[in-house]
Amino acid sequence: MSQSPSETPSALTLAASRRVVSGMRPTGELHLGHYFGVLKNWVAMQESMEAFFFVADWHALTSEYENPLAIREFVPSLVEDWLVAGLDPERCVIFQQSRIKEHAELHLLLSMVTPVSWLERCPTYKEMQQQIVSRDLSTYGFLGYPVLMATDIIIYKARWVPVGQDQLPHMELAREITRRFNHLYGEFFPEPEARLTETPKCPGLDGRKMSKSYNNGIFLREDMETITPKIRGMLTDTARMRRHDPGNPEVCNLFPYHELLTEASVQAEIRAGCLKASLGCVDCKKILLANLGAFLAPLQERRAALQTRPDRVREVLEAGNARARAVARETLEGARRLIGF
Ligand code: TRP
Repeated sequence: MSQSPSETPSALTLAASRRVVSGMRPTGELHLGHYFGVLKNWVAMQESMEAFFFVADWHALTSEYENPLAIREFVPSLVEDWLVAGLDPERCVIFQQSRIKEHAELHLLLSMVTPVSWLERCPTYKEMQQQIVSRDLSTYGFLGYPVLMATDIIIYKARWVPVGQDQLPHMELAREITRRFNHLYGEFFPEPEARLTETPKCPGLDGRKMSKSYNNGIFLREDMETITPKIRGMLTDTARMRRHDPGNPEVCNLFPYHELLTEASVQAEIRAGCLKASLGCVDCKKILLANLGAFLAPLQERRAALQTRPDRVREVLEAGNARARAVARETLEGARRLIGF
């Protein structure tokens, strides 16, 4: 579901109306949930938009500041996964947030105009404070998470931000901060908007949300040898005790994967076969394994090709950083001039 602009766009927003920005924190390996929820959409967007995708390592630091080495390790592996998923550095700008120091300066400027009460009211801030007890998140940096996110977006004068539902409170703040800046110093930044996408459900192997911490994921780096036993061990319709009992795809942990990976006509056959017990779970899993193998094959090929070029990820980042920096620098100069600094 893409949202339409809420107001008539000005000349400025029109100029940048094809620009999108999005980022991911380098905190872990990517799994199918990331692929179908985010990456697939990014890959599609690089074709029709001017796209900037970045590694949000400073954002990771807001909560992982006690273990910065882990963040550093995940930066190249994240970019590798992006390339494997199909991001093409010829079609989009791939960069690392902390290498563009202009983000830090704009973050500082935006922090001057952002009321603390807006940040304290942010639902993600309140929830994280309550839920995460293993780390002390009562820091200035963590409170400012949405200010940094607003910076990442408007420093490229991006119009659209492809994000998941969970980021909407941050997007609302980004819009408010942008309006406040424009109101104080003059119309300068286009107001960014979240671009939600219709993402099919990609639950974990056990039916809960796919997450590394639940140990229920299929990772983009895995081969079929490690994936096959995971699929074989999945629960299907637990009420279907015997092979000739009819099953119900709606309560099966496996069926959502067919919805992602299996051609529609075959999906319909599987559904019918399950409901009338002409198809058993073992055979149903075999079909899925074949489709998963076919889906992963081109990714694995791209990974193998990348691994023969050990400098490739670093080169992609360096080239992307230079392109991002040029845009960020220009925006920042304009912002400074407006404020009179
Ligand atoms: N907060 C985002 C997330 O956790 C990551 C992010 C940081 C981001 N800066 C951004 C996303 C700017 C979009 C635009 O998913």
